[in-house]
Amino acid sequence: MGTQYDGIGQSYERLKREMPLARGPERATFEALTSEVEGRSVLDLACGTGWYSRTLARAGAASVLGVDISEEMVAAAERSEAREPLGIRYEVCDARLLDTVGRFDMVTAVWLLCYARNRLDLSAMAGAIYDNLARGGVYVGVEMNPRFDWSGPKATAYGLTHRPDAEFPGGKELTVTAHVDPPISFQACFWEEEPIVTALREAGFRSVEILPAVLTAEGEDAFWDDFRANPTIVGIRAIK
Ligand SMILES: C[S@@+](CC[C@H](N)C(=O)[O-])C[C@H]1O[C@@H](n2cnc3c(N)ncnc32)[C@H](O)[C@@H]1O
Repeated sequence: MGTQYDGIGQSYERLKREMPLARGPERATFEALTSEVEGRSVLDLACGTGWYSRTLARAGAASVLGVDISEEMVAAAERSEAREPLGIRYEVCDARLLDTVGRFDMVTAVWLLCYARNRLDLSAMAGAIYDNLARGGVYVGVEMNPRFDWSGPKATAYGLTHRPDAEFPGGKELTVTAHVDPPISFQACFWEEEPIVTALREAGFRSVEILPAVLTAEGEDAFWDDFRANPTIVGIRAIK
């Protein structure tokens, strides 16, 4: 599921700039959960083209290391770093296989757990996150809402469709399409709350919270009614 991004690369950032879900609640949720990043060392897993790695560096992180499985996404991140140097380092690695590369104050991962295909993948990701945190360090994630009501309002108005392809205990296999021009589709998994919380607890985290997404001021608008009724995304915070 990871290397599918090799065909996407730089064009992925259109999605960040144009898609209401990414411009609105995804970004607001990430920024709210990382508001204390100033002076902290951060490992940004599944960093993609470095969109949020750059957010963290600009917010004053002491250091940022971005890691992603896709060579093409990391190459795009490195081109951005060359254009606008922020002191971010990038590496290509599968988060499931990542050794302890540091003891970071914070590990961020926006859309990582959804690429776990089974519970073993989830455990490996949770273990890598845990092992790379200093004691007291915090994991911040943004993922699909584990309590998403599949018969409720969808995220289509916000630029994303989720087509369930298969079910398994604790989740679903999905084809996700971002409706930018041209559309970008990828395979991912929807995970219920129990497998996510279990993987993080078994990795050793002493507190695990699934937090409601944050809507910005524009969230007052009726445009976001469907999102408020059935939020597509959540924040995750866990403390080592
Ligand atoms: C939807 S993108 C999110 C990128 C970035 N976090 C953002 O929000 O802009 C998902 C990223 O996860 C990466 N990915 C998928 N599986 C991975 C794995 N096992 N280890 C590391 N990265 C992975 C993909 O290559 C892709 O860049």
